[in-house]
Amino acid sequence: MADDVTSPETEPRPEATSDRESTTEDEAQPAPETEPTSSSGDDAEKATVPDWPIGLHALGYGGDYNPEQWPMEVRLEDIELMREAGVNLISLAIFSWASIEPREGRYDWSWLDNIMDRLQAAGVRVALATATASPPPWLTANHPEILPRTAEGVVLHQGGRQAYAPSSPVYRDYAVKMAAAIAERYATHPALALWHIDNEIGCHVPHDYSESAERAFRTWLRRRYRMIDKLNEAWGTAFWSQRYSAFKDVLPPWAAPTYANPTQQLDFARFSSDTLLEYYKKLRDAVRPITPHVPATTNFMVSLSTKWMDYHRWAREVDVVATDHYTIADDPEREIDLALAADMTRGVAGGKPWILMEHSSGAVNWQPRNRAKGPGEMIRNSLAHVARGADSVMFFQFRQSKAGAEKFHSALVPHAGRNSSGWRESVRLGETLAALGDVAGARVPARVAMLFDYHAWWAIELDSHPSVDVTYGDRIRALYRELWYRNVTVDVVHPGEDLDGYDVVLVPSLYLVTDEHAAAIAAAAERGAHVVITYFSGIVDERDHIRLGGYPGAFRELLGMRTDEFFPLLADEQVTLDDGTTADVWTERLEVTTAEVLRTFTDGPLPGGPALTRNAVGEGAAWYVATRQDEAGTAALIEQVLGQAGVAPVAPAPRGVEVVRRVREGDDEGRSFLFVLNHTDGEASVPASGTELITGATVEGELRVPAHGSAVVAER
Ligand code: GLA
Repeated sequence: MADDVTSPETEPRPEATSDRESTTEDEAQPAPETEPTSSSGDDAEKATVPDWPIGLHALGYGGDYNPEQWPMEVRLEDIELMREAGVNLISLAIFSWASIEPREGRYDWSWLDNIMDRLQAAGVRVALATATASPPPWLTANHPEILPRTAEGVVLHQGGRQAYAPSSPVYRDYAVKMAAAIAERYATHPALALWHIDNEIGCHVPHDYSESAERAFRTWLRRRYRMIDKLNEAWGTAFWSQRYSAFKDVLPPWAAPTYANPTQQLDFARFSSDTLLEYYKKLRDAVRPITPHVPATTNFMVSLSTKWMDYHRWAREVDVVATDHYTIADDPEREIDLALAADMTRGVAGGKPWILMEHSSGAVNWQPRNRAKGPGEMIRNSLAHVARGADSVMFFQFRQSKAGAEKFHSALVPHAGRNSSGWRESVRLGETLAALGDVAGARVPARVAMLFDYHAWWAIELDSHPSVDVTYGDRIRALYRELWYRNVTVDVVHPGEDLDGYDVVLVPSLYLVTDEHAAAIAAAAERGAHVVITYFSGIVDERDHIRLGGYPGAFRELLGMRTDEFFPLLADEQVTLDDGTTADVWTERLEVTTAEVLRTFTDGPLPGGPALTRNAVGEGAAWYVATRQDEAGTAALIEQVLGQAGVAPVAPAPRGVEVVRRVREGDDEGRSFLFVLNHTDGEASVPASGTELITGATVEGELRVPAHGSAVVAER
């Protein structure tokens, strides 16, 4: 069956080339290699789609709802409970394919019609899913060719969920048909407010090695390189006798005797992200002509735990960015991971408000030990997302399942039912969010940018590198953590983002960088920013080819230094710096050209060698951190940089008390909202004046927030 491909976007179809491969293969259309912009979606197309939110006049509150798991009396109670908690937004039909179409071509809409009507009557808006997140058993039984495969060739079967190959033309046809059927059915339903396309696309199968993927990968490569020799050049196939004479011989990076070609691996990651995005676009484009009045999104998983989807690129295709986030129970600083994920999401959303599509009210079911949240934690988590730009707070899920793999996953309505502290918290959150309606639409100002790029992440963690201990998230977390404790708000943005307006630009481990992005980073320093670059940055170009002439090739001049050898530290090895702080994982032999040496190593492989340098550049400076500093060293660095850049905290607060401000731009009254989240065991005092929105209390100069409590002050 031929894939019903959409027409390519801005990139022309490839010319016929000397490649002898048949061009009749099914094609997955890759997105063109252009840089993300801060806007999401194509402007011409978006002109017809109204802005989210539609019909919501407050912050959104609700979650996934799976009524097909429950008899009618429970569904009726659920509607009552939604009213009681002030739920106003529900995601419906995410995993409903087998309930809607129990046999091929036989549809049962009755239960969904009924619940759509009841939600509408209760004033609840619906983010309606395409029901495609898990194909029904009849489909995989009739078409086993749609099943995905691992790099070892293992077929992933029906029985869990997401058992589909996103490149499969057969699966795509079925999924498009389902999406169109559901759109036809509810096109004029007044509850329909948003399309929830599929679900966490790529969550379980980010890389598929099925036959359809193999064919689509070749097509993607032909479109990217056009000539096989261009691929040979990009992949460096002069090495290890890897030279290809035709595209037909090129394979995905299957399990191999030893390291697969790194650029092949990188391109397969790009292809896989593009293919999942193409799948999203097919479903979006199936519902769009039927419901041009309804915006579309899909729930991203923006955090340092989900690596393989290039959400900067994906964001251009959604009408509003939505994301899911789950805290890790045994992470004692999980509020920092949450804040980082939220700031990353705001970066993906180009600074616009976004939807928290899922988080958990308590425990999940998929960590080794799933503990419920502590006192006030669910509300603090919810408000931390709102503080950082979320305009809706949604959960997986509304009612806790009694059967299936997620029966131990918490929900707004727990197994214990209405008479439970969980439900009382759900009601309290509803009241809290209702009091914060004015916050919707406000922006989150920041003077510090942290650069984050999925392609750099994929590349830095390829195999056969100088040290297995160098990971992408490591320095991102470490630098971010220091800023979090200081209540300095950070925009985590793509390197292609406009850097004007930032006084500090942090560049953690940006191993792969394009010439254009390297130039933009240098320009930021010239213009007056303090640019901080950490080790193993600027090493390769977008093909994963070394930038020759001394490391870090892309930033040597900016940093006023040059490295000729890496000396990664051995497992458990530590070095000391001349201020008494320690470091591990990385050292390198560097010489300064124009930079000043701020710190040196006193021991280790390079005693006396520079560990931290600073180069005066134009109106600003470029700092280089040549080792993995401990907490004290990182804290001292951040203090120094913030001090020199003149960046102050949002408000002074005790350690562990999170303070973030949202501001209504262009609002004549210039209203701003100060979020204060007390993650500590003691009462906290923060300077503030205005009205505390949750209690309605007037605040005159000092806000007191109880242990584990939250407050939001409409400032004056
Ligand atoms: C993901 C999925 C949900 C659910 C939750 C559980 O976010 O989208 O369907 O499985 O995980 O945490």
